[in-house]
Amino acid sequence: MLIDARAVDLEAEFSSSRVESIADALTPDRSLFVYTLMVPVAAWHQRAVRRKMKKILLGAVLTLALLLLSGLVVTRLGLMPVSADGAHSRLEARIMPTVLHASVVRHASGETNPVALNEDHLKAGVDTYKAMCARCHSKPDGEASVYGQSFYPPAPQLPKGMSQYTDSQLFWVIKHGIRNTGMPAWGSMLSDEEIWQLVSLLRNSQDLPPSVEAQWKER
Ligand code: HEC
Repeated sequence: MLIDARAVDLEAEFSSSRVESIADALTPDRSLFVYTLMVPVAAWHQRAVRRKMKKILLGAVLTLALLLLSGLVVTRLGLMPVSADGAHSRLEARIMPTVLHASVVRHASGETNPVALNEDHLKAGVDTYKAMCARCHSKPDGEASVYGQSFYPPAPQLPKGMSQYTDSQLFWVIKHGIRNTGMPAWGSMLSDEEIWQLVSLLRNSQDLPPSVEAQWKER
């Protein structure tokens, strides 16, 4: 009887719009009926949420396990191609240059070329390039290097095929090389000055003095 009366009371309060929110209605002194109804409903809801969370977590763990397993199967069964010939995979061709560029940008020091831009340094750069780089990257006036093209990824034909690098980024690439490719780390074979001379040469290759151009052709 008491509960019925309270419910009627509550209905009246709702219809007379004195109750502003459900929260008001849920206070025990206002409506024992609604309150006692809401406790099991809230508990049920909480259990449902917990069940859903458990399902999501289980799904994530299973997906991860499946990914690890397929990675293991692909690598252990020898399904990964490792030959250096054949077409360059489109996925790698798209992802790797971005990865390389981002890493070079992060690691390069940002310093400017300390070697003066003059004919002597440019000529020295040509000599080093001919001795160390041309066999893979070819010479500007020469044929594309078949040797350089046989790497995976192929050596770009310099300086034309080069990415947009700043001086210090170019210095970094030449000094430290590129992992898992044919590009060696020249830091153990060339001095910093020789590397900066190469940087000057590559960066100014479109606009070289005639005496430096002639140096390319000398044997
Ligand atoms: C044995 C072959 C080989 C030699 C020698 C070599 N390189 Fe490379 N180089 C490569 C290959 C292969 C790549 C491509 C790596 C890649 O794409 O990830 C490369 C990449 C580069 C790049 C990056 C180009 C870009 O666009 O990202 C530069 C710069 C470079 N080499 C400069 C030189 C210089 C300067 C020398 C000489 C001191 C030299 N390399 C000698 C094989 C070689």
